[in-house]
Amino acid sequence: MPAPPEVAALLAAQQKGMALVRGFYADPAVYAHDMERLFLRHWLCVGHASQVAKAGDFFTTTYGEETVIIVRGKDGVIRALLNVCRHRGAEVCTAKAGHTTLFACPYHGWTYALDGSLDSARHMPAEFDRAGHGLRQIHCREVEGALFINFAAEPVAFGHVEATLHGALGAYGWADAKVVHAETYPLDANWKLAVENYVECYHCSPSHPEYSKLHALEQPAPRIAKLNAAMEARTRALGVEVATLTHWSSAKGEEAIDCFRYALYDGVQTGSPDGSPVAPLMGKFTGYDGGVTSIHLGPASFLVSYPDHGVIYRFMPRGLDTCDMELLWLVRGDAEAGRDFDMEKLTWLWRITSEADKRIIEHTARGVRSRFYEPGPLAPMEANEQRYLDWYLAEIA
Ligand code: FES
Ligand SMILES: [Fe+2]
Repeated sequence: MPAPPEVAALLAAQQKGMALVRGFYADPAVYAHDMERLFLRHWLCVGHASQVAKAGDFFTTTYGEETVIIVRGKDGVIRALLNVCRHRGAEVCTAKAGHTTLFACPYHGWTYALDGSLDSARHMPAEFDRAGHGLRQIHCREVEGALFINFAAEPVAFGHVEATLHGALGAYGWADAKVVHAETYPLDANWKLAVENYVECYHCSPSHPEYSKLHALEQPAPRIAKLNAAMEARTRALGVEVATLTHWSSAKGEEAIDCFRYALYDGVQTGSPDGSPVAPLMGKFTGYDGGVTSIHLGPASFLVSYPDHGVIYRFMPRGLDTCDMELLWLVRGDAEAGRDFDMEKLTWLWRITSEADKRIIEHTARGVRSRFYEPGPLAPMEANEQRYLDWYLAEIA
């Protein structure tokens, strides 16, 4: 799909090393094109298998106009079904999450089985093709418990992403983890302002004093390199091999992924109010190495893993000027709140960080809506953002 003229004009106006020009946030043609080129083509993390642990468990998730039901079937398979009735198009499932044996359309009462097949259609003639009117299914993959969907008929290649996730999330035991808390932050901002904010840590020091006291990512490169080398030595001493990969390119039609590790400050064990452990150790970690693994995947999925808990960060456009940021917290599958971890302490850091992010993202959205906004130069510490922008611009070109 070639870029429409409005998008092509913006691409021509965009300068390397500079923030995006206003139209990338404000032009409805860009939003429509973003949906087509990014969200309907790329792999998106929708959550974790523990959210649909039993047959009949389901949740829904929405990207722009597209809502998907993630459901575990009687056969144990997790499927992604488009939430559009095959009769006259009503939204079939109106719940955010739950447990069911059938999905019943609220309009005329057609019902669908957990695998999407049409179960009943009231008063339809005998010759009506029931088999041809199941809910449409899109691609859905589970990798170490993390769930990914893809709307495209022929998705971009995902094999190298899966291999990396097996090595990275596998080390942290994500397949045996469970989601214990979710938080959604509605943002009055174009989705790119939210993702751009996520991928750079130039803002960490002024905006996130709590995060910055624990994580060394906000340090300039030479200082963090030294801290990272010490962290890697501790990881090796634990006998843990965490696969990492810097592969942020779609040149070969592959999904983009960057999986990297970085250090916490000396003595900090995990992301918690005082850096002390918050939950039982996970996977191959028999101790704390003072590091964290960060995964950036495709347009809007981010996974964070400490030795004792994980966080899934997802961004979902709702319209040109609105999006949702969702966080899911994971702990070891057998850990119980109150006994093995304190929910407040577990979720504190990324809640407080996300509340601050919501404020700064919405401040930025108000600023870039101004006709007087002019893109300024990116700082060296925004190299990750530059990489993301380069990728984004190539994807929509
Ligand atoms: S639109 Fe769903 S049964 Fe009619
Ligand atoms: Fe932030």
